[in-house]
This record gives sequence, C-alpha cells and structure tokens, in this order.
Amino acid sequence: MLPNIIILLTCLFVKSVVCVGCYWNADCKYKYFSSKTPYEFVRGDIRDTFVKQKGCDPLSVWIITRHGKRNPGVKYARHIEDILQYKDNIISSFEIGNSSLCAQDIDNLRNSKIDKSFLGEPIQIVSEGYQELLRLGSRLKEALPELLNGLQAENYLFRPAYGRRMYDSARAFIEGLNYDKLNITDGDDDYSIVAPHATCGAYKSEVVQNQSTYHEVLEYLNSKDFIDMKNRVEQRIGLNFTLTDNQITALYDLCRYQFDGIRDKPSPWCSIFSTADLEVFEYLGDLNHYYRNSYGASKYAKELGQISLADLYRNFLEARNGTGKRIVSYFTHATLLDMILVVLNLYKDTNPLTGAHRDWNRKWRSTFLTSFAGNFIAVLNRCTTDPGNTLDFNIAFYLNEKPLLELCNGGVCSWQEFEDIFKPFLNATTDICMFKSELVD
Ligand SMILES: *[C@@H]1O[C@H](CO)[C@@H](O)[C@H](O)[C@H]1NC(C)=O
Ligand SMILES: *[C@@H]1O[C@H](CO)[C@@H](O)[C@H](O)[C@H]1NC(C)=O
Ligand SMILES: *[C@@H]1O[C@H](CO)[C@@H](O)[C@H](O)[C@H]1NC(C)=O
Ligand SMILES: *[C@@H]1O[C@H](CO)[C@@H](O)[C@H](O)[C@H]1NC(C)=O
Ligand SMILES: *[C@@H]1O[C@H](CO)[C@@H](O)[C@H](O)[C@H]1NC(C)=O
Ligand SMILES: *[C@@H]1O[C@H](CO)[C@@H](O)[C@H](O)[C@H]1NC(C)=O
Repeated sequence: MLPNIIILLTCLFVKSVVCVGCYWNADCKYKYFSSKTPYEFVRGDIRDTFVKQKGCDPLSVWIITRHGKRNPGVKYARHIEDILQYKDNIISSFEIGNSSLCAQDIDNLRNSKIDKSFLGEPIQIVSEGYQELLRLGSRLKEALPELLNGLQAENYLFRPAYGRRMYDSARAFIEGLNYDKLNITDGDDDYSIVAPHATCGAYKSEVVQNQSTYHEVLEYLNSKDFIDMKNRVEQRIGLNFTLTDNQITALYDLCRYQFDGIRDKPSPWCSIFSTADLEVFEYLGDLNHYYRNSYGASKYAKELGQISLADLYRNFLEARNGTGKRIVSYFTHATLLDMILVVLNLYKDTNPLTGAHRDWNRKWRSTFLTSFAGNFIAVLNRCTTDPGNTLDFNIAFYLNEKPLLELCNGGVCSWQEFEDIFKPFLNATTDICMFKSELVD
C-alpha cells in the first residue's frame, strides 16, 4: 500500500516537472518584445476599423510608418555571434541533466539555423519586414480603393528617411498598393519632415549620446527584478558560468528577432525564457524608449514631433482646397513615432517610468506603440450634409490600424478640432537643434 502511494506521488511529481514550462507546446506564447515586436502581433486591420460615415468620402490620407522588421545592428550582431558559440554547451548541459528545458525544446534548438544575412546584413529589413509593409499597403488599398486607384505623379508622395531599409520599406508599401512604378522621393538630403530627429545635433549630444539619459535603464539592470530574471535563466539552462548583460541580451535577441510573426513561427530560443522573464526585457525596452524619445526627453520630442505633424496639417489644408495629394507617406524610425505620440499627449503615465519600480499598468508600452512597421494614419473626409448640400470635413486617426480613440470623438476630429490641435504646430522649428549632425544609417 505505502510503496504504491509513493510511486503514485512520484509520478505526479515527475509528470508535473516534465510538463510544466515546455515552450514548444505552450498554449499561450508571449509575443510582446518591445520595439522588436513583429507588427502582426499588435496590429489592427484598417479594412475592418476604417470609420465609414454616411455622406463622406476620403479625400486624402497621410501616413507615417516605421520600417519593417530588420536585422539587429552591428553591436548586437557581435554579441549574438559570441553567444552562439555556447549553443552546444546549452545542449550538453541538458544531456548531463543540468538543464530544466524540455527535450523537444532542446531538439528544436539543436535543429535551429540562423540565416547568414541575420548577422551579415545588420539593420537591413528581412523578408518578413518587407511583407509587413507590403501587406499594410495592400490593406490600405482595400480600405480606400477609390482614393488610391490610378495615382498620378501629382497625387502622391512617398518619402523614406535616410538608409536602405527605409527605401526598401517604401518599395514594399508601394508594391502592396499594387503599383509597379511610383516615384520614391529620396536622396535630396532633405529629411526635415520624415526624420527631423536624425540630424538634430543638440538632441544627439544632449539626449541620445548622453549617459544620464540611461540612468533609469542602468538602475533597472541592477534591480532585483532584472537580477532575479537572470538567475532564473541561468538555473534553467544550467551553464557553468554566469551570463553577462550582453550575453543574456543576445539570447533575448535570438528569441525575439527569430520569432516570425507573419508565419507565426516561434523562435526555439524563446524556450529558455519564461513569460515573466520576457516581461522584464520588455520593460527594459520601454524605459529606453521613454527616456530617449518620449516623455523623458519631452523638450526635443515635442518640438521635433510637431514638425512632422505640421506637414500633416499643411497637406490636409491643401487637400481641402482641392490642390492636395491623395496620399502622403513617410517611412521612418520608431523615434519619430514616439515623438508624435508625445506631441499628442498620448499614453502618458502620471508618474514617470523608473528603474526601481515596474508599473504593471503603465500606459507607455513600446510593444503596442512602436512595433516593427508601427504606423500613424490620418484620413481627411469630405462630407455633404442634407439639407442644403453643405460641405463639411473631418479627420479620422488610426494607430497601428486601430482607431485612435483618445483623440476627439472616438478618433474622429471635426475640422475645427483638427485645426485647434494641429495649426499651432506650424510654428515648430529645428532651432533647438543648434547644429546639424551627420546622417547615419
Ligand atoms: C515620376 O516623376 C516624373 C518626374 O517628376 C514624372 O514625369 C513621372 O510621371 C513620375 N512617374 C510616375 C509613375 O508617377
Ligand atoms: C546630460 O543630461 C543631463 C540630464 O538631463 C543634463 O543635465 C546634462 O547637461 C546633459 N549633458 C550634456 C552633455 O548635454
Ligand atoms: C549546473 O548549473 C548550475 C547553475 O544552475 C551551475 O552553477 C553548475 O556549474 C552547472 N554544472 C555543470 C556541471 O555544468
Ligand atoms: C564549463 O564546462 C565546459 C564543458 O561543458 C568546460 O569545457 C569548461 O572548461 C567549463 N568552464 C568552467 C569555468 O568550469
Ligand atoms: C486655399 O485656398 C484659399 C482660397 O482659395 C487660399 O487663400 C489659400 O492659400 C489656399 N491654401 C492652401 C494651403 O492651398
Ligand atoms: C506662432 O507663434 C507666434 C509668436 O509666438 C504666435 O503669435 C502665433 O499665434 C503662433 N501661430 C500659431 C499657428 O500658433
């Protein structure tokens, strides 16, 4: 009797150990990776969310979008290359019984292959990133068929920020709109609207390259939250050395960059992290964005974001007059999208984010704001109202293809409301930049 109970208990215990925490068959995989989140995991669908109003026709659309999914930058690629040397150690640690990963997860890791271009073509967009933009263009065309059919040279502007990944993103988007050949406006050195942050000297030196900007980030890297996460991962994979911050970040990068959103194909590298671990990294990303591009850098974010939004205002003023373009699209960095949200006072937390305390209910979640291909869309509508056929205009706003409910009336502003918010932006200048910094890819 007694031995049977012991056997039963042992089985239950063993069963639970084996089953809990396998990644390959987990029902609910965590897919939120800060600004390296595939667009597919956070997007809405403009075909469904497009606000149809009786008596109204779209007259013009203005869109600013982040480039599609890209490879890691040079520095991160180097760290990834370093950690890949330990792949065999992670596998042998399982073989000697020092790892709590599941057998299938180890198999998947063993069989995983890294594309040469992943580390060999830093910051260039990958095929998934091309698809993200192509499909965005295609959905927009389906939502606004009349407006976007038969575009002539004077009807459109497609302007990428500096660099190949921006240009490629523009090409993908145009292909999605189902055109073979539309002009991409590029190469004349004027990135003042599509990327005012990129040449803003004072912003670069005072914020981007300033160590104090990352004070809260560093504090978080030394917090119990982060150190506990590192210990959990070390326990799980059972290597005989402790991981540096660069090493564990490289493992995280292998997880998030290798997670294919379009094919919904998880990265086997994610199996070494729990959901709680991934949430820690996500917060680290939020802190970075918050202090470099957002409310933590609001002096620059406000002014530079306004420069782009003033362009939106000018375009719709012209479109309203009958002299505007049908579509204006900019392809840029997450930085500018962050800044635009600050200008519109969106997703602002009452208390600034800090390294000491992770607020679970924070509004600033980079995952949902500036994923790959994250975008901000405004549509100008012309409406005729009976009786008397009087003309009226309104503007509908979308973030990542979801109505931007926080603005005006459920994301739709009257012309007057629009003017009240946007007209003051015409005054924005790059004066605070003091000097022009060199463009870097
Ligand atoms: C491209 O630009 C040129 C010069 O501005 C113009 O003549 C041509 O029609 C444009 N092509 C298309 C497809 O819009
Ligand atoms: C760096 O940031 C701190 C805090 O915002 C500021 O006091 C300091 O002047 C900045 N340093 C530079 C070189 O701009
Ligand atoms: C097993 O893993 C632990 C960390 O969890 C580590 O300290 C130890 O050195 C590992 N043992 C071997 C033989 O690798
Ligand atoms: C860790 O284990 C590997 C074999 O898995 C061995 O080659 C290496 O010397 C060990 N390192 C340390 C610091 O013990
Ligand atoms: C719009 O039209 C009015 C009157 O025709 C004109 O004064 C104004 O300059 C035009 N504005 C734009 C932006 O084209
Ligand atoms: C621009 O600034 C000037 C001077 O500060 C002010 O008089 C004017 O009203 C502003 N224009 C807008 C559109 O806010």
